[in-house]
Amino acid sequence: MHYETFIPVFILFVVLGLIMPLVFAGVADKNRNAAAAEPVAPQAKSLFDQLGGDAAVNAAVDIFYRRVLADAYVVRFFEGVDMDKQAAKQKAFLTMAFGGPHNYTGKDMREGHRHLVKMGLNDSHFDHILMHLRATLAELGVANNLIQQVIATAETTRDDVLDR
Ligand code: HEM
Repeated sequence: MHYETFIPVFILFVVLGLIMPLVFAGVADKNRNAAAAEPVAPQAKSLFDQLGGDAAVNAAVDIFYRRVLADAYVVRFFEGVDMDKQAAKQKAFLTMAFGGPHNYTGKDMREGHRHLVKMGLNDSHFDHILMHLRATLAELGVANNLIQQVIATAETTRDDVLDR
């Protein structure tokens, strides 16, 4: 997806994500009678929200990008990549890994990385990227159990990214 289309779609998801709970809360309020005024049980927050949502993604992009480009083992895959578009792609990457709203499918992941597989992209490079993801989150002070969940989400894309 292009940067120009990704941003509006991403903003739409975020806005819907903010508005829909309010709409549902309003409906629930109308249906509630006076006797049911006891406190409402806290709702389970998504991983994306627990990590701090969009703001957390933005904070993580810088650190993650710096780490990846400083890694001689994987940097060759990023050479020649359009730098203006790269920030949006890093953001898309992290939004996916955080389990947040995104528009990428397995097919997109295959197509987006196929040329890299032809360049030799394999499990060891994938492991390096996960290592940088883990280190980025640790640097931001994210709790270990959340880091585990992010890594598990990123793992689900392995076979698509490696085109097998
Ligand atoms: C956790 C697994 C991964 C996820 C979720 C992921 C996600 C993404 C996404 C969403 C894009 C943007 C695709 C587009 O719209 O064009 C992208 C592009 C890219 N990814 Fe990944 N990625 C992963 C692993 C890797 C690995 C292991 C490498 C290399 C070491 C890598 C290198 C790249 C590069 C270089 C691009 C830009 C390609 C180009 O524009 O030519 N990715 N990735």
